[in-house]
Amino acid sequence: MIIKERFKQKKDAVELELERILSRGNSLLFQAMRYSVLSAGKRYRPLLMLASGDYFHVEMERILPFACALELIHNYSLVHDDLPCMDNDDYRRGRPACHKVYGENIALLTGDSLLSLAFEVMAEAPDGKDFSQHKSKAIREISLYAGVGGMIGGQLLDITYNPEEISEDRLMELMIKKTGGLITASVTVGGILGGASSHQTGALQAYGENVGLAFQIRDDIQDAAKDYPDNSPPRPNCVHFFGPDKAREKLDSHIRDALIALETASIDSEELRHLAIRLSVLKEKIENEQTT
Ligand code: IPE
Ligand code: IPE
Ligand code: MG
Repeated sequence: MIIKERFKQKKDAVELELERILSRGNSLLFQAMRYSVLSAGKRYRPLLMLASGDYFHVEMERILPFACALELIHNYSLVHDDLPCMDNDDYRRGRPACHKVYGENIALLTGDSLLSLAFEVMAEAPDGKDFSQHKSKAIREISLYAGVGGMIGGQLLDITYNPEEISEDRLMELMIKKTGGLITASVTVGGILGGASSHQTGALQAYGENVGLAFQIRDDIQDAAKDYPDNSPPRPNCVHFFGPDKAREKLDSHIRDALIALETASIDSEELRHLAIRLSVLKEKIENEQTT
């Protein structure tokens, strides 16, 4: 099957399972969760996890709950990120943000509910003889990368650093945590569930961090091109820091480093390579390098 179809099949499976998970109730919070999650998300993190899991031969029924849980956590982070006390964004995925439809207090609780639901879903994932250990390790991995040492820690740096004074190291740390956190967990969990060696997990982590950095630089490039209302809070942005040309160069160099990380552990996954390369603004250049 060609790679595009394989990704479509995986994305469809995720969409279906998310719908199933979010049909567990019909209260206001379930309505708000459905509004936020069942919208036009790229599902990039679940695709990373399923690609990594495929490489390590993890069965779909075992990994799908984790891929969906990660997407629920990502969506909780977006609902909270858009709140007036955070980035104060009125729109998400081309439609009004959760708090614009349901109010700030409900949006806050919607994010909370998504986070708890994610852990409920992971805890319910099928067990098995050797699998229980992998499962608890994967849950721990996700909680660490989503928490203070990962995504939440990165969000803290995002709102506390003054964009005029931030250093390059701090900016990198912010991005590795804020965006790289959930992205890295997506990739390493595929390996953990498949019993990857520590050398392989280390390579997956290096791949994830570089993909996370590339992902945020790309998002910053897109953000820099947008017009923001005057009341938007100033946030650190790679394009403002490096300038547009250097930001693009850095994006591509992190994609290359992600591909090198896979090679160091001989992880020959076409899907993981593809998911990194698709972030490139110079996509064709890198693809040519790959085939020559
Ligand atoms: C947006 O993530 C937030 C960042 C971490 C940059 P995505 O670009 O993956 O958003 P969706 O899920 O596709 O809407
Ligand atoms: C959001 O980062 C990251 C998280 C929610 C963890 P940004 O603020 O840069 O992403 P957008 O531009 O709102 O999607
Ligand atoms: Mg934001």
